[in-house]
Amino acid sequence: MANEEALFQRFGREIAAGTVLFKEGDPGREMYVLQSGKVTLTKNVRDVEKVLAVLGPGEFFGEMAIISNKPRSATATVSETARLLVIDPRTFEAMIRGNAEIAVRLIKKLSDRLAEAHTQIERLLVADPQSRVVHAMLQAAISRGKKGPEGLLVEMPVRELHVDLGVSEQLLLSLLERMERSGLVSQVGPEALVVRDVDQLQEYLRFLEYKWKFGEG
Ligand code: CMP
Repeated sequence: MANEEALFQRFGREIAAGTVLFKEGDPGREMYVLQSGKVTLTKNVRDVEKVLAVLGPGEFFGEMAIISNKPRSATATVSETARLLVIDPRTFEAMIRGNAEIAVRLIKKLSDRLAEAHTQIERLLVADPQSRVVHAMLQAAISRGKKGPEGLLVEMPVRELHVDLGVSEQLLLSLLERMERSGLVSQVGPEALVVRDVDQLQEYLRFLEYKWKFGEG
């Protein structure tokens, strides 16, 4: 705690909720470590502002621009009044050189993001838009579904999936309705879904893929 306070004295800033720290495309010469509060990272994807992550205490961001000397890859907005350490490139480099734990945390975080990006690429390579949606649900259910009485509960922003998956909103909504009617999934509010039976969903995906390959799409 004393260490945190000392760091705050040296690098800290308290920033009010609603402040935009930087915008996607801006040049960036600082990285940030959150001591308290929240920061939301967003990115513009086909004219829709997509939330990449909501960060909390202990997390860092803004390192990419200073590592790779590129513009900011996302917009950062303080969503809950925050205490932030603002680190310049020289201090950042000194921290990494001097503290292996910081370097390991950074590598872990970057490889998590890379894995997430791979998943995203894999999804977009599924040609048929309907299969893409079902594939995303199946993958989420298998990797992070929580067992419940009705099936696997998956937290995902169901109604915004079309942005990530490059399908129309209309297609997403009509597919969801069809899947609910046939008992494959049920929506639990806007942020979660229950996959009733993974094997059945897998079968449905195979059916869609065959239909796309051999039918009329
Ligand atoms: P930078 O590009 O400097 O500014 C935006 C920051 O958002 C970026 O550094 C990363 O720290 C963070 N960021 C970028 N992409 C993602 C992502 N997909 N998930 C979480 N954080 C991200």
